[in-house]
Amino acid sequence: MTAPHIRKMTRDDWPEVAELIHVSTNYWYESNRNLRIFPCRPDEVELFCRVYEDLDPGCCLVAEHPETHRIIGSCFYHPRRTHISLGIMNAHPSYFGMGVARRLLQEVCRIADEEELPLRLFSSAMNLDSFSLYSRSGFAPYASFQDMFLEVPAEGLAVTVPGVNHVRDASLDDLAAIVNLETELAGIEREKDWRYFLENREGIWHVSVMESPAHELIGVLASVAHPASRMIGPGLAKDEEAAAALLLVELNHHAGATPVWLIPTQCRSLSQTLYSWGARNCELHFGQIRGGKADFSGVFFPTFMPETA
Ligand SMILES: CC(C)(COP(=O)(O)OP(=O)(O)OC[C@H]1O[C@@H](n2cnc3c(N)ncnc32)[C@H](O)[C@@H]1OP(=O)(O)O)[C@@H](O)C(=O)NCCC(=O)NCCS
Repeated sequence: MTAPHIRKMTRDDWPEVAELIHVSTNYWYESNRNLRIFPCRPDEVELFCRVYEDLDPGCCLVAEHPETHRIIGSCFYHPRRTHISLGIMNAHPSYFGMGVARRLLQEVCRIADEEELPLRLFSSAMNLDSFSLYSRSGFAPYASFQDMFLEVPAEGLAVTVPGVNHVRDASLDDLAAIVNLETELAGIEREKDWRYFLENREGIWHVSVMESPAHELIGVLASVAHPASRMIGPGLAKDEEAAAALLLVELNHHAGATPVWLIPTQCRSLSQTLYSWGARNCELHFGQIRGGKADFSGVFFPTFMPETA
């Protein structure tokens, strides 16, 4: 096959891109890990196109087959003041290993280099195809994360943790403090993402914040409830105790369901608390960066929708 044609996604492409994400991800994980990542219908995966076009219009690239003009690859990128992040990346299974993802990634790297911004992403530590793709393009891991899941009982978790009474629903009045906390703990800024969750026009987001007794913001945690994505994150907390309190509250917003979330692997006491609630591991991820340095203090909860960190 000659090189695919790389172009921006249009509104008419949404159904094809949703099907591509659905079949590509399910095919890879079913073949390699016996997991079905998207048990939902293919059209429900249009959520990715909708959310990402809301946040970053024109920032989805598709790879078109040079002869059939079918879409055989897609990826989303998210320019922010401090960095550019790369969201979900897919090649069609019939074209795995033919350089489709490499071509898309080359284009995103070119944009990041032009803007002189670091590129960041989260890639599975259990998927050598994606790890190698990014590693060959100059990405290096800066931290590892464990993916956990838990079936939350319909009546909520019958546990408590210190500080849980200091967690409350967030509002737009918290926006500036949330943005400052992320800049302080993770060195990145993504004001429009937090505004988007807090405005919640889709009715699928929930955000909790935690304050110290002196009313200083010490943590924030968002979550999404949709057939194509039921994840807790993004979020940040100054310490593991605050992270546990925020997680408990967000988990109870998913009573009767089985959300997934990621925590840094070095958070020993947090992981022990979560195991004691019945949480189990389902994957491992690396936070990766190209063209800069990344670090965070406290607890950082990445997510895949939107993958803007
Ligand atoms: C991961 C995925 C996007 C890769 O797409 P692809 O189009 O098959 O990838 P490419 O053909 O462009 O290959 C990527 C590079 O990795 C290299 N590579 C693959 N396996 C490798 C290995 N074990 N060691 C070293 N390099 C390897 C390839 O040689 C290629 O580099 P090159 O073109 O410089 O030779 C694809 O498998 C996919 O869509 N998977 C399902 C969804 C998914 O997991 N997405 C990633 C989420 S972060």
